[in-house]
Amino acid sequence: MSKEVTILFGTTTGNAEDCAKKTAEKAASLGFLPRLENMAGFTPEKLKAAGLVLIVTSTWGDGEPPDDAIPFWDKMAFLTPGSLNGVGYGVLALGDSSYEQFCGFGRIFDEKMERLGATRLCDRIECDVDYSEPLEVWLERLPYILAVAVMR
Ligand SMILES: Cc1cc2nc3c(=O)[nH]c(=O)nc-3n(C[C@H](O)[C@H](O)[C@H](O)COP(=O)(O)O)c2cc1C
Repeated sequence: MSKEVTILFGTTTGNAEDCAKKTAEKAASLGFLPRLENMAGFTPEKLKAAGLVLIVTSTWGDGEPPDDAIPFWDKMAFLTPGSLNGVGYGVLALGDSSYEQFCGFGRIFDEKMERLGATRLCDRIECDVDYSEPLEVWLERLPYILAVAVMR
């Protein structure tokens, strides 16, 4: 299998981008070819073409996508079930537990990927305001996620 991994981030104030960059660095150190992509400007067609996607996103509003990710997310509504068959993915969700919809967008993105036929390679990790510890857990889990992806 290809060693390309798409790291797709959605952010407003840069936290998810920071986590995505660290994810890309770790993937590169493991011999993978990371492609860092912002949801702003990304398309569902590119998602379909990716074999392995790591989604790193924050939540805004009341469980909603970051503003820049909204056009991409709206287009995702047109994908039909099964259209992401063959895609493996994992989700690192950022949020703030003082909000009712804690990590709400990461959760609905995760659920949508599964409904569209993609294969979840690991349980979603949710981060509160201080995301350093869950980010460490995610980075420690990365070799296993990538190994599972290669074996598929
Ligand atoms: C106006 C506003 C609305 C937010 N809404 C939510 C929310 O509904 N759920 C949640 O878990 N976090 C929410 N957050 C917290 C952000 O997701 C969190 O600060 C995150 O780390 C921001 O990451 P970013 O810099 O990548 O955008 C909100 C923050 C602000 C300022």
